[in-house]
Amino acid sequence: MTQIEEELLKKAKEVSLNAHAPYSNFPVGAAVLTTDGKIYVGCNVENSSFGLTVCAERNAVFQAVAASGTEVKITRCALYTATVDLKSPCGACRQVLSDFAQKLEVLVTNKNGDVKRYRFEELMPQPFKF
Ligand code: THU
Repeated sequence: MTQIEEELLKKAKEVSLNAHAPYSNFPVGAAVLTTDGKIYVGCNVENSSFGLTVCAERNAVFQAVAASGTEVKITRCALYTATVDLKSPCGACRQVLSDFAQKLEVLVTNKNGDVKRYRFEELMPQPFKF
């Protein structure tokens, strides 16, 4: 584990405290690292019209694009859930990550501080490409 990966995991946990999850009570935090060494974070934001909810990972990716532009490339994504088991990004977030992934590795962590690492291709072997 590198220092920047430790930082990503910490930031993912921190931002989960800002999650707006009054319906599921399931806070999630994500942090992505770009090729130029910048970190962007996101949390899940639920809505009273449930289907409008956006996941933490997608919000982090959208922050990266908004700040760094359309050519932004993401090399790491850290995901925190306040659970005992280790979760992994949902299918929609995998598809969104695929458009910006460059040698992407996904690190997932939980409230016990366990960490599991995936190569993105393990999670999303055949993404849709336009
Ligand atoms: N959620 C995420 O933020 N990321 C995922 O990869 C899956 C699920 C959120 C959406 C919803 O607010 C809550 O977790 C329960 O599904």
